Amino acid sequence: MSATIDIDALVDARNGRVTSSIYTDPDIYALELERIFGRCWLFLAHVSQIPKAGDFFNTYMGEDPVVVVRQKDGSIKAFLNQCRHRSMRVSFADCGNTRAFTCPYHGWSYGVDGALIDVPLEPRAYPQGLCKEKWGLQEVTRVAVYKGLVFGNWDASAPELETYMGDIAWYLDGVLDRREGGTEIVGGVHKWVIDCNWKFPAEQFASDQYHALFTHASAVEVLGAKPSAEGSQSGALGAGQTARPVWETAKDALQYGQAGHGSGFFFTEQPDANVWVDGEVSQYFRDTYAEAEARLGKVRAMRLAGHNNMFPTLSWLNGTATLRVWHPRGPNQVEVWAFCIADKAASDDVKAAFERSATRAFGPAGFLEQDDSENWAEVQKVLRGNRARKTKLCLEMGLGGERVREDGIPGMTNYIFSETAARGMYQRWADLLMSGSWDEVNARTAQYEAEVLK
Ligand code: FES
Ligand code: FE
Repeated sequence: MSATIDIDALVDARNGRVTSSIYTDPDIYALELERIFGRCWLFLAHVSQIPKAGDFFNTYMGEDPVVVVRQKDGSIKAFLNQCRHRSMRVSFADCGNTRAFTCPYHGWSYGVDGALIDVPLEPRAYPQGLCKEKWGLQEVTRVAVYKGLVFGNWDASAPELETYMGDIAWYLDGVLDRREGGTEIVGGVHKWVIDCNWKFPAEQFASDQYHALFTHASAVEVLGAKPSAEGSQSGALGAGQTARPVWETAKDALQYGQAGHGSGFFFTEQPDANVWVDGEVSQYFRDTYAEAEARLGKVRAMRLAGHNNMFPTLSWLNGTATLRVWHPRGPNQVEVWAFCIADKAASDDVKAAFERSATRAFGPAGFLEQDDSENWAEVQKVLRGNRARKTKLCLEMGLGGERVREDGIPGMTNYIFSETAARGMYQRWADLLMSGSWDEVNARTAQYEAEVLK
């Protein structure tokens, strides 16, 4: 299939151009499922969701349904949620605890280790014998945990998880490692669909602070007008008590973009959360600042705003407590799964405040979420057009401004208002679609990044 699609002609990251058919073409989408979702490390669950043996959580890797299960020995495995008899799902609940997964179609039953353990009427139905050892659930090739986040990968030849993450781990630690004891998921998972290609939200979370000035202007104006009882609040968007926008007052700001991952934030001088976050949460960040600074250093401890995406589809917002996955649903739709993530050591009241804040701003009806979703869905509508699908889009923001910083903040960076991470994401995307081996993928990406930094 790859031979018939000229990916090189559609993505020119070096000059900041992509052709819009990458968001609509069903053949490209099929290739993404195979070469991106079939080979990259994908977020599956948080360890706090499956603490006990037999606990399971149902999710997806691309469009493949996958059940993640805590084993009797405490390890975590994941399986394709597909009966080996006729392909039915064997587990339907979102999550729970079980001793076996029994298929609702003809009743084949699988242990939590994936082994086929029972077949109804086996002696009569299979008088010739059935080798049950051959027909267990298909196990996700690799499962690895990074500071509480469980990831899966189908590709035995993929780099180790931490190698794959590279410097995005440093940025992710700003959420996962603020306090002793790590994090947990608070409440359930919000799930909803948006009629847009998965790359629009993934790219925005990787690379796009720029949209916030305009897209979220009205929401932030309303919130910013509210006097804060707790003192100053300087959100990413510059509202709160700060009369001048943060991009004018912040001493520094950066966008990080490498190996397809991306992140961006303003440097602030107060450990205050965004204006849309509950005062109780903001107070919690101030109360726990010293511990966070001791663990993470000032830059990351102060960082309570900004955007992030770990390629391909794991996004989070610092301070806002939303962690989400963009599950692809064909080229024209994405299913959002949004988790509220909070420090385990926080009180129940603070955790409830985190959940309220995340839901209010970035739940399915959240006022900032709706702004974003509307843009993505409208963009996808435009791309139904024959001409519109052939258009080259401009990703030139900050082209040539990439550098490696000298203050210890890792990775390739640029000013926050740039598209370094977007260009890097599409380069990585193209590298994966065009390459048969991980060595080739990594060689292509390394060559691109060396050229950009030259
Ligand atoms: Fe599962 Fe038949 S499809 S038992
Ligand atoms: Fe937004």
